[in-house]
Formats: sequence, structure tokens, C-alpha cells
Amino acid sequence: MKIDIVSVFPEYFDVMNLSLLGKAQEKGLVEVKAHNLRDWTHDVHHSVDDTPVGGGAGMVMKPEVWAECLDQLLGLEARDLQAGEVGGAIHSSRESRQAKGLTNAAPRLASRSADPSEAADHENPDPQSDQGPILIFPNPSAQLFTQKDATELSHSSHLLFGCGRYEGYDARIPDYYRAQGVQVREYSIGDYVLNGGEVAVSVMLEAITRLIPGFVGNPDSIVTESYTGEEPLLEYSQYTRPTSWRGLEVPAILTSGDHAKVDRYRRDEALERTASIRPDLVQALDCKRLDKKDKAK
Ligand code: ADE
Repeated sequence: MKIDIVSVFPEYFDVMNLSLLGKAQEKGLVEVKAHNLRDWTHDVHHSVDDTPVGGGAGMVMKPEVWAECLDQLLGLEARDLQAGEVGGAIHSSRESRQAKGLTNAAPRLASRSADPSEAADHENPDPQSDQGPILIFPNPSAQLFTQKDATELSHSSHLLFGCGRYEGYDARIPDYYRAQGVQVREYSIGDYVLNGGEVAVSVMLEAITRLIPGFVGNPDSIVTESYTGEEPLLEYSQYTRPTSWRGLEVPAILTSGDHAKVDRYRRDEALERTASIRPDLVQALDCKRLDKKDKAK
């Protein structure tokens, strides 16, 4: 998977060379490159922002600088949209806010400088899902990024993240690239506001890349996690040795050796915990999949 990140603080992503992501890069599973947005400016101050049209506090990131950068990274030529395309772009942007997991039209990246040998380098279990680069903007006002999104994006061969700062980026940027046929996503990582998109991109990147086959040593460890699978529940509590510690005991059933009972205990715990902390996840469960004991919980 090729990952490009654009930021005014590209050094922020030096940590991507550490830990499991660093190892995955060494293994050739992922290739992460952070770019400085200011490299695409032409003025002496390398300015990337301007005051909001219509007034208001703060600064907004300029579309021209972003577009020069994104055109180059996506291999697109600059062009003005025609009236109909602009309408379509705005329409698709609205749709994206309504529909979770939006699917844009197949990318029209005619002049993309794609090296065909590159595609074969990527671990992509489902080539059908790979429709060219996906452009992702973190945005506190966008739809929530979930495990489902991480799973879907882990099948892509090229992700391009644009980190906003200040009051955000000009709203025409995502609209323009959608109209160009690029798959564009905007995601919030939670109901709080950060100083910029860098932390949000780090969070999304970690959630996505660890799902790439070969990334984690034991693939079973990501199968039973919270939010994962057909029935996304919060995960049950885990314990290790010693079974008795400072007056606290591991639940006896876990040391019984009876796997069916252990499975039942863990499922009950996951259901109870999810119902108490995240009732929305329980409400979203498919009732047909629940057995009598589940329902009693
Ligand atoms: N930028 C600032 N806050 C953010 C959030 N909560 N999610 C994504 N991007 C952000």
C-alpha cells in the first residue's frame, strides 16, 4: 500500500518509521511518504491560508496551494470545471454526508502517471475494490471514521491524506477532486476538535495499516477485537497470570478448561459491556443472529 500524507508539519510523521508500521515498511507492505504542503507555494512567506470569505475567526487553507500539490501527487492536470460538473461535485459531496461508505464514480485519472508494476507490489486481497487512489481529509465536521472504514480502506493500494490546519480547508477542494472522478473521503475521528489533521491521520493510518495481511504477526488477534466482524461488540475483558493478584481473582470459569463455557462467558460479558457503554451498537445488531441466551442479556 502506498501512503502519501500532505501536511505543513511533515516531521510529525517521522514516527511512522517506528514500531510495527516501521517493520511493515521494511517488509515492503507499506510505503509512507510525508510531503510538506509549503513546497507547493510560490510566495516568499510560503503561505497556505487566508481569511474566511464571509468573515469569521481564524484562517482557511487555500485551494490553489492544495490543488497544485494534489494534482501532482494524483497525476492530474489542472483544469476548470464546467458548470454541470460543479453541480455534480456539490451533489456528490452532499450525498457523501448522508450515505455512510460512499462510493464515488470510478476515477477518471487519464493523465495519472501510474507505474503498472506498482500495483503488483501492493498487498491487495480484493483487487475489485481497488479503484485508484483514495483522497482522505480529516475533518471534525465529517462522518465518523469507524472500523468498517478502516477495513475497507485496508484493501486500497494508494491512500493520500491531506491534513488541514487552522479553521480547515476550502470546501471546494474535496468537491473539485470528486468532480475529477477521484474517490474522496472526509472523516472525523471523534466528537472533539484537534488543532489539525495530523493526529487524526495518525489514528486512521494505524487503524487501517494493521489490517493489511502480514502486518500483525498473529492474524487471529485482529479477528475478535472490538467493533470487528458481523456482530461488532466491545471486546470482553482479558486476563493473564497470576490468576490471583492483590486479592483479585481471574473469573474461575476462565481457568475451567471448558471452552464452550469460556466462549459463553466472554460473549455474555461483551454483550453486557456493550449494552452498558455503547447501547447504539447493541441496537444495531441483527436480531436474527442472537440466540436465546444473548437476548436474555
Ligand atoms: N481535525 C480537527 N479535529 C478533528 C477530528 N475530530 N477529526 C478529524 N480531523 C480533525
